[in-house]
Amino acid sequence: MRLMLISDVKDGMTLGRSVYNANNKVILNSGVKLSNSIIRKLGDLGFSKIYIEDEETYGIEIQEMIPEAIKRQNVKEVKQVFDQLFTQSTKTINLKYKGIASKFESIFKELYSYLRDNGDLVITLSDFFSMESYLFTHSINVGIYSVILAILDNKRDTYTKDIGVGAMLHDVGLLSVDKKILDKKGNLTDEEKQIIDDHCKSGFDIIRQQGMSSVSAHCAYQHHERFDGSGYPRKLRGKDEINEVGRILAVADVFDALTSDRPYRPAHLPNEALEYLFAHTGSHFDPYFVNLFARHVNIYPVGMPVVLSNGDKGVISNIHANNLQRPVVLVLEHENRSVSPYELDLEQNLNVTVVECNLNAHKKLG
Ligand SMILES: [Fe+2]
Repeated sequence: MRLMLISDVKDGMTLGRSVYNANNKVILNSGVKLSNSIIRKLGDLGFSKIYIEDEETYGIEIQEMIPEAIKRQNVKEVKQVFDQLFTQSTKTINLKYKGIASKFESIFKELYSYLRDNGDLVITLSDFFSMESYLFTHSINVGIYSVILAILDNKRDTYTKDIGVGAMLHDVGLLSVDKKILDKKGNLTDEEKQIIDDHCKSGFDIIRQQGMSSVSAHCAYQHHERFDGSGYPRKLRGKDEINEVGRILAVADVFDALTSDRPYRPAHLPNEALEYLFAHTGSHFDPYFVNLFARHVNIYPVGMPVVLSNGDKGVISNIHANNLQRPVVLVLEHENRSVSPYELDLEQNLNVTVVECNLNAHKKLG
């Protein structure tokens, strides 16, 4: 299996992984032969990349932190709760709707059971959802990343739960914001900016009204505050003013936003998102949490095209959880000639390095 830009997928290729919508319904099954019209439709739905199964990369399996089926189910549950919470006809939050806390606690419990016993905690991007499910997928991802940071920082179970639940609800205040404003490509007017700013406080209020902890509520209130005071809504500054959960959430929220497809741009790769976090460490983000997070991000996603310093071209086929800088590469081309695929373990071949690892790597240098 390999990962490809949707624009590079050709008629007749085989889909490697099923594609789902936000309701956990299959849009397209793995194994399907893709036609030009299907490829176009996937592009229209906002998929910028998909997994392709082919003979050369047969046998490469995508690794996951949380099994994909579990995650899809959780995304669907978040959507169901949000659908109940938000009354479409009046475009308002239905505060009478109860049960959010118990639902999110049970989602947290399931995710935590996978993360807690996973000694390596490698942050790996593998699943792609349709654009319509962004808010729900983003909620789950920010929950997972925040919980990982809490575990890495040896937080107590109760505190970790409060962060996890709060992180999954951090953008609940966006439910009543018009999608046109959320997806707007150009600059926002002052009025639109104010509406966006308000989602932090309204999220805080909703979480408190549902009887959840102050730690959870502050995930919503402070996730857009920035270390140098340039954030919103209260322009809090540094460790003294920004609660620890606000500093954790800022890292988790921005990393997931950058690595997700958005209507105005395709997703960035994990290494590009990490570059952004590093470029803004100390100004936007608490350096401590950026460093903690960065050590666990896999910048070489399995299935990604790669070019090596010896000129070989291939696809990442495996990683070493305790040595993420030295992945295993399935070599497909040697000295610009196709070869019978073989694995090169960069942990064993320290003289070879990765020169390029992105979806255009073979095109640019090939
Ligand atoms: Fe937000």
